[in-house]
Amino acid sequence: MQDRKVIAVIGATGAQGGGLARAILDDPDGGFAVRAITRNVASDKAKALAARGAEVVAADLDDPASLQRAFEGAYGAYCVTNFWEHFSPEKEKAQARNLAQAAKAAGVRHVIWSTLEDTRQHVPLSDARMPTLMGHYKVPHFDAKGESNAYFTEAGVPTTFLLTSFYWDNLIHFGLGPKPGADGVLEFTLPMGDAPLPGIAVEDIGRSAYGIFKQGDALIGKTVGIVGESLTGAQMAEGLARALGRPVRYNAVTPAQFRGFGFPGADDLGNMFQFKQEFAREFGAPRDPERTRTLDPKLQTYAQWLQAHAAEIPLEA
Ligand SMILES: NC(=O)c1ccc[n+]([C@@H]2O[C@H](COP(=O)([O-])OP(=O)(O)OC[C@H]3O[C@@H](n4cnc5c(N)ncnc54)[C@H](OP(=O)(O)O)[C@@H]3O)[C@@H](O)[C@H]2O)c1
Repeated sequence: MQDRKVIAVIGATGAQGGGLARAILDDPDGGFAVRAITRNVASDKAKALAARGAEVVAADLDDPASLQRAFEGAYGAYCVTNFWEHFSPEKEKAQARNLAQAAKAAGVRHVIWSTLEDTRQHVPLSDARMPTLMGHYKVPHFDAKGESNAYFTEAGVPTTFLLTSFYWDNLIHFGLGPKPGADGVLEFTLPMGDAPLPGIAVEDIGRSAYGIFKQGDALIGKTVGIVGESLTGAQMAEGLARALGRPVRYNAVTPAQFRGFGFPGADDLGNMFQFKQEFAREFGAPRDPERTRTLDPKLQTYAQWLQAHAAEIPLEA
């Protein structure tokens, strides 16, 4: 334990950080140890990590002093923010700034910042193809992360900028799975037209992050995109039909229709899918499955993910 490199994992009780924590714990001879950071060390997920040998430490992204304490003595830190807990890009940026400053103060030697594109570099606020949201953003949960890259760069934090992809797990946990249409046939609704959507099993985000820490200094200052496969809505529906053993049709709504669905964040996600559709080449370019496989040799295809998880997808309206 003494000579292992400690990775402080933000979000260790969640999807991305949980995958990283498990990747490190699954490789006890790999030379790394997990420090799982959570607001609630007494939660079942925190206790499960402790039972597997992780050090569990309390800290809050809104409390800079707690973050600095949690990062002290760590070699690396995995930094992720959860936009969907508060829907506030301003809060997400403040949390990212706290992370960068804590990493700098604690002298962390390798940070992975789980970021996304600042879509305004492609679609300026003056571009009327999609509405401006919250006054300053096109895709708030992307733009805030992309804008936050500067906190790490400007503080001189040795950082790898990780561009993640759409989790296929959203079909289970984010309400994006197929639902019965008016005729009872399952419909997979996505505002992507015929454009491919880069996707990944969320467990592979954590495993890829582990691969980045293992490569170390070579990836500091670099932007690394990760993806399992890029598939059209029609291909995703076909895969679902095969895995579920019943017909699933692709319901290619427009981004404007998706924004109109009205659930919290529908406008943000409608703009996000429109960006991914209209800038498919730019969005896809940094996300290369072969490169990802060099970081994560167990990288799953969509069919493999479906084989393992299709039964967990809720199918009712
Ligand atoms: N869904 C997608 O397809 C997708 C794709 C790319 C990127 N993303 C991004 O992924 C992010 C969410 O990551 P995830 O899916 O891994 O999240 P998640 O599974 O919902 O878990 C959230 C994690 O963040 C921790 N956390 C939240 N607020 C915290 C705070 N104030 N202080 C300390 N820890 C805090 C939670 O820890 P405790 O509750 O234990 O404190 C938990 O471990 C979002 O920002 C989203 O934009 C999502």
